[in-house]
Amino acid sequence: SAATDYQAEDAAISQGTVATNHTGYTGTGFVDYTNIKGSYVEFTVSATAAGTSALTLRFANGTAVDRPMDISVNGAVVQSAVSFPATADWNTWTTKTLNVPLTAGSNKVRATATTADGGPNLDRVSLAAAADTQAPTR
Ligand code: GCU
Repeated sequence: SAATDYQAEDAAISQGTVATNHTGYTGTGFVDYTNIKGSYVEFTVSATAAGTSALTLRFANGTAVDRPMDISVNGAVVQSAVSFPATADWNTWTTKTLNVPLTAGSNKVRATATTADGGPNLDRVSLAAAADTQAPTR
């Protein structure tokens, strides 16, 4: 079933820039986190009902070193230091799926770098249909 995509370049960015200098991104670019602890991207996502939902982050990490991030929902960390490991290069994107608790309606989902390297390059997040705003198929 469908998921709802939220592009990182359209999200709220603290200590990062929208970039297009690598291939394979979706939308109009991706977020290049500043190489600093605490840099973040915050998405406003919508859920039709409270509950746990699968959130998929699409990222690239062209270094040899993990770029862990804390995932918070509405200000509370729900997953600490989630691993965003190396990909083959900066043009190679992969996904990480996490279960996150959402409230009904609007939610602030933030991915914050936990090391001085900053986060990986972040293309988008996708929210599984179970708790998103997809209209039912008729
Ligand atoms: C390189 C790369 C960027 C990346 C950065 C980093 O500069 O081109 O896309 O964000 O490394 O280490 O974070």
